[in-house]
Amino acid sequence: MDEFEELKNTVLSCQKCDLCKTRHHVVFGEGNRHAPIMCIGEGPGYYEDMQGRPFVGKSGVLLDKILDACGFSRQEHVFIGNIVKCRPPENRDPTPQERGACMPYLTKQIELIAPKIIILLGATALKGLIDPNARITKVRGQWMEWNGIQVMPTYHPSALLRNPKLKRAAWEDFKLVIDKYRELVDQTHYCANH
Ligand code: URA
Repeated sequence: MDEFEELKNTVLSCQKCDLCKTRHHVVFGEGNRHAPIMCIGEGPGYYEDMQGRPFVGKSGVLLDKILDACGFSRQEHVFIGNIVKCRPPENRDPTPQERGACMPYLTKQIELIAPKIIILLGATALKGLIDPNARITKVRGQWMEWNGIQVMPTYHPSALLRNPKLKRAAWEDFKLVIDKYRELVDQTHYCANH
């Protein structure tokens, strides 16, 4: 078994925090295990917990639409993960203890996938990976670096569903990702919209 499969098995049987008591499924993440792009969300919601897959509810439908508009797919270009792998009851924010317990799994995923670009979806992902005091409204659309990897923070798809006026700014952020993808990964990447 390779290291990635081993990590997946460890995560699927994790009992490091109390979320293991209420979860139906652990959501390890999915996509290309060697993806050049990682998208990182907050944590599973109801549908993700039921299916064991990331971003399969309403915000997942929107995320897939955005990725498609960029010429990216889950299968080929992207691996989708989360800050916490188990659903917090009633979709409350994950606690610092829950985030702390789960974070080493995410950093190991990043290390093994070795993406060229990380897209942080929303405040929890931004605070979890970069800085607990960072504000998504302030820093979205600005390139950052994490361990040598280019990082683009943007709004969470659920924020775009709550407030469609934010979609314009989010599309600007994704256009920067397309540019960076052409620069770092594939000069010839085709996207009908940019
Ligand atoms: N929201 C997230 O942050 N992650 C998911 O997997 C689904 C919804």
